[in-house]
Amino acid sequence: MDFPSQRLADHYQRALRADNVLAQIDAHYPAGPSLHQLAPLDQLHIGGVAASTRLLERLDPTTHGKVLDIGAGLGGLMRQGAALGFQLTGLDITHGFSALNKALSSRVNQPAAPLLTWVTGNASALPFADNSFDAVLFQHSLMNMADAAKAITETRRVLRPGGQVVMHEVVSGPNVAQLRYPVPWATSTEHSHLITLVELTRLLEAGGFTVEHAEDWSQIALEWRQRQRQKEQAPRQAVLSPQWVFGERFLIMGKNLVDNLAEGAIKVVEIQASC
Ligand SMILES: C[S@@+](CC[C@H](N)C(=O)[O-])C[C@H]1O[C@@H](n2cnc3c(N)ncnc32)[C@H](O)[C@@H]1O
Repeated sequence: MDFPSQRLADHYQRALRADNVLAQIDAHYPAGPSLHQLAPLDQLHIGGVAASTRLLERLDPTTHGKVLDIGAGLGGLMRQGAALGFQLTGLDITHGFSALNKALSSRVNQPAAPLLTWVTGNASALPFADNSFDAVLFQHSLMNMADAAKAITETRRVLRPGGQVVMHEVVSGPNVAQLRYPVPWATSTEHSHLITLVELTRLLEAGGFTVEHAEDWSQIALEWRQRQRQKEQAPRQAVLSPQWVFGERFLIMGKNLVDNLAEGAIKVVEIQASC
């Protein structure tokens, strides 16, 4: 793994105590956790399960069933997709995340989960043959990528003709210069590679895609994050929380997300394109 990739993986794995997470889950959910019980841990994006539901609703499992999730993290979106009949491969550069994603999938209380596959790898050099997938998802991962154009070119390569890419991403807002760190995807500018929705649209078009849908979710995202923050500060905490991944630093990360959305430093968007 090259040095920048290792630095990014270190950012995500630094506070991760996978064995403790699994022991906590086994103790509290002996019959296996539900997708909703896992969500505070494994849906590491703004909007939680509801955002993943909206993203998956943009695809039809009967026509676009073979799906690659780029930057799958701990796999909340993958397991939700599997429950709807999609066959998902999760790719992530952070090996500790891929390993925990797999371990969580073996514990989850999900009837007849279809095949899930986990691969540690880089979006800039996808370890898959041309035309391998019907659809590719990005959920809060492109923002970590210094070369978004390369990730989009690679996405196009592994998609079959008629394939779809659906993204639920953080992009830069009008006041991005005031972005407050740390945020969950970066403690400084080193790992934060935000572009505007207009730039993202252009990159997709330059990469051979036709953009079919683009929507700004920022207001919904802000309201959702405000509600999460109240829960995170309540005296009785849920069993699982993003703090199991990010440690104590999530307290300030969560506050900064609210401030960054409220101040227009970031936006949350959904974009869908076909090839
Ligand atoms: C904020 S997390 C989001 C995880 C997951 N998509 C979710 O929404 O819960 C970003 C993820 O993207 C992964 N990632 C960032 N850059 C990547 C790259 N170049 N190739 C593959 N994965 C990458 C990180 O390791 C991390 O797991």
